[in-house]
Amino acid sequence: MPKPRSSVQRIVLGTLFMAGIPACQIDPPTSSPSPSGTPEFLGSTTCAACHPSLGALHAVHGHANALTLIEGEGPGFPETDPPQAPLEAPGGLGWENLSYLVGGYKLAGRAVDRDGFLLIDGSTGEYLQSNRSHPVTGTLAGLVSFDIDNVIGQPFTIACFRCHTTGAASFDGNGGIRQGGRIGIEGTWAEGGVGCEACHGPGSLHIPAPEQGNITVDSSAQACGTCHTHDDRPDEIQVEKGFLLGNQQFAEVLASPHADFDCTVCHDPHRSVIHDRDLAIRNECQTCHPERDTASHEGKIFSQDDYAEALTCMSCHMSLAGRSAISADAERTANNGGRIGDTRTHIIWINTDPVGLDDILGAEDGIWPTDSEGKAAITLDFICLRCHTGLGNAFKLELAGAAAIAPGLHGTTE
Ligand code: HEC
Ligand code: HEC
Ligand code: HEC
Ligand code: HEC
Ligand code: HEC
Ligand code: HEC
Ligand code: HEC
Ligand code: HEC
Repeated sequence: MPKPRSSVQRIVLGTLFMAGIPACQIDPPTSSPSPSGTPEFLGSTTCAACHPSLGALHAVHGHANALTLIEGEGPGFPETDPPQAPLEAPGGLGWENLSYLVGGYKLAGRAVDRDGFLLIDGSTGEYLQSNRSHPVTGTLAGLVSFDIDNVIGQPFTIACFRCHTTGAASFDGNGGIRQGGRIGIEGTWAEGGVGCEACHGPGSLHIPAPEQGNITVDSSAQACGTCHTHDDRPDEIQVEKGFLLGNQQFAEVLASPHADFDCTVCHDPHRSVIHDRDLAIRNECQTCHPERDTASHEGKIFSQDDYAEALTCMSCHMSLAGRSAISADAERTANNGGRIGDTRTHIIWINTDPVGLDDILGAEDGIWPTDSEGKAAITLDFICLRCHTGLGNAFKLELAGAAAIAPGLHGTTE
């Protein structure tokens, strides 16, 4: 079956493309390398000069905000809708004590001190972290508590920053240079955050002759997968502390019914799911599965305390089974073993057996099981039992009860 794309995509992309290429002139870089030289990184600001629409979309994407240089003040993240309170300095340290913040736009930010060390609580091993509010888990904005007398610094290595920067080079590979001369940083990068050139490659050969064909355009899932896979293992979906790790969408897609899709079938690579959810997704589930309904949940709205969610395909098939930075709220999950993480899984398939993670891995960390074809399915503790706790407006279900009803939920609209 061909991969359908909505006409919306063509219209939006066409418009952008026109708008993105004005008759613009910028000064070529002073040390402009010859077209046969080694390409160099120029930075997203340079790209945005000639591609302003894409530059504006990129600036409000998590990619552009994946690592922020702190210069005395807190980071000025793009506004979200609804607006969020400004992030507090992680660990209650003043911003003046930090050099970088890792993340922080979506869920939480983690602190790098002025010497370039990533700060952790030595007694718990947890990062000094500042959370955004996350209503579905009941997480409030603010600092994660820590032991002020036991803060230790962990070297900021390429194993950590390679996915949060552009043009990362390891300490061993770059002749022992440290970013900004900070002793804790074991390597360098060309630009903080995931810039244009993290996906398109260094752009200096494109500028002297700006045209198609002299800069990388790679739409493969593998290209996104270099960062959206844990430990370079796209064949493994890793589980830690009761949740799938949050940054392994590539491994999840490969284990899903959409294994042969590039990420860009569903995602506009330049648009943020956080900032611009509807335009960021090129094809919704129902564009390709028009015969499906919301499985006996049409028009239903789940609510608990201040949180409300209109049921969609994502509520069940892309459940919050992943955890990137915020723990599930213990009170909400204690009731009957339901699990609420902070990141939607791309596994899509649902395991309707009366089993949960505890039956599969116990309390251990490990690898989510796949079948002989490498396919996975999410268990109902991450799906029905997230809402059907009796604590909100959805009646209480146990695993066995949920398993009995789940296979029939879509009725006969096969
Ligand atoms: C001096 C202006 C200018 C600058 C600066 C510039 N571009 Fe371009 N870019 C262009 C033009 C013109 C095209 C060709 C558009 C066309 O022919 O449709 C283009 C095309 C592209 C394409 C499409 C390539 C293809 O084969 O389809 C990509 C990707 C791209 N640019 C990325 C970048 C990135 C990344 C940077 C920053 C490193 C950048 N551009 C900087 C002018 C520029
Ligand atoms: C160089 C590493 C890297 C590459 C390559 C990369 N990502 Fe990301 N991506 C990240 C990081 C890091 C974050 C988290 C940013 C944050 O919130 O701090 C992220 C976040 C995201 C988000 C959520 C943030 C938002 O604003 O929507 C989406 C969606 C996403 N990436 C999709 C993609 C797609 C699709 C591709 C390939 C076209 C891709 N990524 C390639 C590193 C990367
Ligand atoms: C293999 C690539 C990769 C590595 C290595 C990596 N990250 Fe990430 N990180 C990501 C991606 C991708 C996301 C976004 C996940 C999502 O949105 O689902 C992310 C998200 C985050 C977030 C949440 C961002 C936000 O805006 O809420 C924080 C904080 C974070 N990472 C910190 C770190 C730290 C600290 C390290 C090193 C110890 C690290 N990451 C190493 C890829 C990586
Ligand atoms: C997360 C990876 C990623 C980042 C970051 C990214 N691009 Fe792209 N870009 C792509 C992919 C993949 C395509 C292929 C076309 C598609 O699927 O839309 C593309 C296509 C393009 C094109 C071709 C025309 C178009 O609109 O599709 C241009 C021009 C371009 N990018 C410029 C940029 C510029 C400028 C930036 C930074 C402001 C940037 N890109 C950041 C992945 C990325
Ligand atoms: C671009 C089109 C497209 C989009 C968007 C899409 N799907 Fe699919 N989906 C497919 C195709 C094609 C298959 C069949 C793959 C196969 O036969 O191996 C499929 C298979 C599936 C299956 C397995 C069906 C079976 O009989 O085993 C499920 C479940 C599913 N999709 C759910 C979803 C959900 C939920 C979403 C939204 C998050 C979604 N799909 C988005 C095209 C799409
Ligand atoms: C309330 C939870 C829920 C919602 C909402 C939901 N589904 Fe499902 N869906 C299920 C369950 C449970 C199954 C059955 C899985 C099974 O029996 O293997 C299923 C099965 C499917 C299948 C067939 C997969 C297979 O293995 O045969 C497709 C395709 C599908 N859903 C698509 C969608 C789409 C598209 C939407 C949104 C319009 C949606 N679903 C909304 C729970 C849900
Ligand atoms: C079948 C369609 C589909 C495919 C294929 C797909 N995505 Fe997504 N993705 C979605 C949808 C839909 C959402 C937004 C769900 C929502 O409404 O929150 C999403 C959300 C995300 C998020 C944000 C997750 C969160 O909860 O914060 C990231 C990161 C992401 N996708 C990365 C990727 C990457 C990387 C790939 C390729 C390896 C990929 N996606 C392939 C449909 C898809
Ligand atoms: C995002 C939250 C959410 C998820 C996930 C969810 N439900 Fe529900 N469900 C609701 C809400 C809210 C209602 C409406 C309750 C009411 O009106 O009393 C509902 C109603 C129902 C109903 C009654 C349907 C009717 O015809 O009125 C059944 C049966 C049901 N859910 C089973 C399930 C099963 C089985 C799963 C897992 C596959 C599931 N639900 C997943 C929130 C959820």
